[in-house]
Amino acid sequence: MIYRKLGKSDVEISAITFGAWAVGGWMWGGTDEAQSIAAIRKAIELGITSIDTAAVYGFGRSEEIVAKAIEPCKREDLQILTKFGLRWDISEPAPERWKTTGRDGKPATVSHWAKADGIIHECEQSLKRLNTDYIDVFQQHWPDPGTPVDESAEALTKLLAQGKIRAVGESNFSVELLDEISHQIPIASNQPPYSMVNRGIEDDVLPYCVENDISVIVYSPLQRGLLTGKITPGYEFHGDDHRANSGLFKGENLNRTNAFLNEIRPIAESHGATLAQLVINWTLNRPGITAVLVGARNPKQAEENAKALQFDLSEDETASINEKLDALELTS
Ligand SMILES: NC(=O)c1ccc[n+]([C@@H]2O[C@H](COP(=O)([O-])OP(=O)(O)OC[C@H]3O[C@@H](n4cnc5c(N)ncnc54)[C@H](OP(=O)(O)O)[C@@H]3O)[C@@H](O)[C@H]2O)c1
Repeated sequence: MIYRKLGKSDVEISAITFGAWAVGGWMWGGTDEAQSIAAIRKAIELGITSIDTAAVYGFGRSEEIVAKAIEPCKREDLQILTKFGLRWDISEPAPERWKTTGRDGKPATVSHWAKADGIIHECEQSLKRLNTDYIDVFQQHWPDPGTPVDESAEALTKLLAQGKIRAVGESNFSVELLDEISHQIPIASNQPPYSMVNRGIEDDVLPYCVENDISVIVYSPLQRGLLTGKITPGYEFHGDDHRANSGLFKGENLNRTNAFLNEIRPIAESHGATLAQLVINWTLNRPGITAVLVGARNPKQAEENAKALQFDLSEDETASINEKLDALELTS
């Protein structure tokens, strides 16, 4: 495993970080707590020291599962990244993100909410659920169009001064918003989506972050399982699994992606690696990428993903993958 510092902060994370969204169950068709805990522990056993979660993942459940998984570990050996700003527990009018089903099975609305008192409250709640007295990286999950960034920055400055958080990160922030908030408070990292089939950040966010020493921790590098090659036509998703409605997992997009994966499969095989490992390795080695957040639902997936850096891609292999990717046309 390799470890990298985030921006100008003193937080160092593992370049493969465990993504704990799916283990929260919400939007992933439920969770198996024992398997989730075993997945996180397997990742830690194999050198992953960092775990990314969020208050909204399973409406607190992911953070609680992370707390149980890391109970036997020394807190200072790990880095916990969590997120605030997507609230399912407020009734004030706020820009809505989803209408969904809550943890209690009742209808819930998830809203953008990054007001100062909301941030302080969310930090306290996350500390309780995570059973810890500090968070390594506290990230705003999505921008809140209803709150000026200086209000959020003030609350975060207070939390930094109190030692309740070690560093501030953003997620899904545009260049304009990153620039605005960076003038108020040091931003250690930004967390955007990035995968072989979702490379939009290469145009703007990635170069901005590199130039301004903001680390880039990318999410969904396996495109939520699609790039493992296991999703074939007719694949069944269960319960509220959001992938059932994603155009990338259907029709011509799915056929073309799988054809591409079959073309690059020999490169994986020549290294004794799986497609998932090849995809993770390629993603982390793209210029400017600091770390990849990879989700896993069980110890087998966690082990496969954690071992993705055990081989090096040659320049020729990388060029060949890039050439095939350039020829891959998907519709949105
Ligand atoms: N900031 C944000 O807005 C945001 C948004 C999304 C994600 N994230 C973060 O990024 C993390 C990773 O992203 P993600 O979970 O969306 O997607 P991902 O890492 O691309 O895919 C994870 C999913 O793929 C499947 N999988 C993983 N490893 C596998 C393997 N070796 N073989 C076969 N299947 C495998 C698992 O689901 P199945 O077994 O069910 O197929 C797993 O839950 C999240 O957990 C979260 O921490 C952040």
